[in-house]
Amino acid sequence: MKIIKAKDYQDMSRKAANIISAQVILKPDCVLGLATGSTPIGMYEKLVERYNKGDLDFGDVTTVNLDEYKGLPKEDEQSYYYFMHSHLFDYVNINPDRTFLPDGMNEDPDAECERYEEVIRSVGGVDLQLLGMGHNGHIGFNEPGEEFAKGTHCVDLQPRTIEANKRFFASAEDVPRQAYSMGIQTIMKAKKILVIVSGEDKAEALKNSLFGPVTPHVPGSILQMHPDVTIVADEAALSKCNL
Ligand code: F6R
Repeated sequence: MKIIKAKDYQDMSRKAANIISAQVILKPDCVLGLATGSTPIGMYEKLVERYNKGDLDFGDVTTVNLDEYKGLPKEDEQSYYYFMHSHLFDYVNINPDRTFLPDGMNEDPDAECERYEEVIRSVGGVDLQLLGMGHNGHIGFNEPGEEFAKGTHCVDLQPRTIEANKRFFASAEDVPRQAYSMGIQTIMKAKKILVIVSGEDKAEALKNSLFGPVTPHVPGSILQMHPDVTIVADEAALSKCNL
């Protein structure tokens, strides 16, 4: 595991954008696994800046997102589809037909999860998977539990996640209770993984993920078993790690 220490959120965003840019430059037809949430917003801004400068070309890139709320239509401002369009896809030359997310409006979880796994298989798997991390160590919407979820699945969001995500909604009641998420096995199949973490409130989860026992009670701890993981975290997020 490679741990890159960033000074602050901006520095983390810049360093993470460097890694994504390198991937796109070295393999223009790569498959990027993407994440939403507040952590990657600065990084997406930097990628758009680089595209505008002519340094990056997304023309042959394919993307598959980690997750989507179940029950939110694409045009809902809180859907991850909307997020990806308003932070990246609408500002770069990516082919919209090559951007994939789980379909939150598919009411049949088995059919949707199978469809999404097939999408990932059909694009040839993920070259570089971006991950954020939840306060409880979740990755994607893989919440702490008794076992690691395998493939794409329908998740019941935990109270702490609903609480953390309510800032984007009018109230906690409006946060969807379920989501479709890539599973741990899906994530672990990516050739490379990039994890970005910012803020002291993530320090405990990051320490447990990087240095604690590998356990489904801390989903991020499984990353210790992946052969090619890079962590870009700011000083606050790394404050509980003795580096
Ligand atoms: C988002 C995702 C989540 C977030 C995590 C951190 O696609 O899968 O695991 O990465 O909840 O969210 P933020 O960045 O908002 O703290």
